[in-house]
Amino acid sequence: MLNFGSINVDHVYTVEHFVRPGETIGCRKYRRFAGGKGLNQSIALAQAGACVYHAGKVGAADAWLKTLMEDKGVDTGFVQTIDGPSGHAIIQVNAEGENAIIIVGGANQLISEAEVQGIVADFGPDDYLLVQNEVNAVPQIIQSAKAKGLTIAFNPAPMNAQVLNYPLELVDILIVNETEAQALTGESEPDSIGETLNRRFPQTAVVLTLGDKGAAYFSPQARFYQPAKKVHAVDTTGAGDTFIGFFLAELIETNNPAAALQWATRAAALCVTRHGAADSIPSRRELEAIQ
Ligand code: RIB
Repeated sequence: MLNFGSINVDHVYTVEHFVRPGETIGCRKYRRFAGGKGLNQSIALAQAGACVYHAGKVGAADAWLKTLMEDKGVDTGFVQTIDGPSGHAIIQVNAEGENAIIIVGGANQLISEAEVQGIVADFGPDDYLLVQNEVNAVPQIIQSAKAKGLTIAFNPAPMNAQVLNYPLELVDILIVNETEAQALTGESEPDSIGETLNRRFPQTAVVLTLGDKGAAYFSPQARFYQPAKKVHAVDTTGAGDTFIGFFLAELIETNNPAAALQWATRAAALCVTRHGAADSIPSRRELEAIQ
């Protein structure tokens, strides 16, 4: 699995409520965590037992993020350290454990087309590509990987208008939350979302995450729903990333989307009971221990 993705420093502010227009508030707690949808998903893949190569860029001052990925079992041979700022995120977490996030691209936005070609050249038809929308050059990454025969998994997060012009017809596995799905389809009901996306992209399996309601899988051949276990959420940051890593790891291992959905939903439920993004991702062994 090659994951072309962001690497962020997360500045996390625990607040009573999200700051309102014109308001200044103090935070209960400030903490700095490792994050970035790319980094989180690579760590989740590795924690779930998959072999994952992360490609991306990080500022030299934040080399600890690269070390953390290595410690968690991610191959960082394609992570480039640059002179300049890393990506970072400013994250408010409210009393309900919900978050509001601003991201600053930094090194994540400096990937060149030549670098994409060079890295993808090392992979082939037995491999998967995963990419999110937090790095630049997403269309080139998808096109280059497809040309080499990789199976393409795309998580269009954070969603923006540019995604509508990406070569989504090349995507084999599209993983979206309800907001992203609504922006892509104009639909809000899970079944309508699945049907619309399957009609528009008949080659693509669609995984829809539904927060504390669980997740769903739609392909022209099959449809599964997986409810989530009720837990006390303290911080939902990274839950979607945990889900994606565990889903793909299990799918690659077993080719069983229903089992992958179940496994991923359990991992995400455990993630939200802990603080931080990368730090809250459970390991396969932890999940097995609480069967
Ligand atoms: O998905 C959670 C992540 O989104 C955070 O770690 C933050 O860095 C933002 O990219």
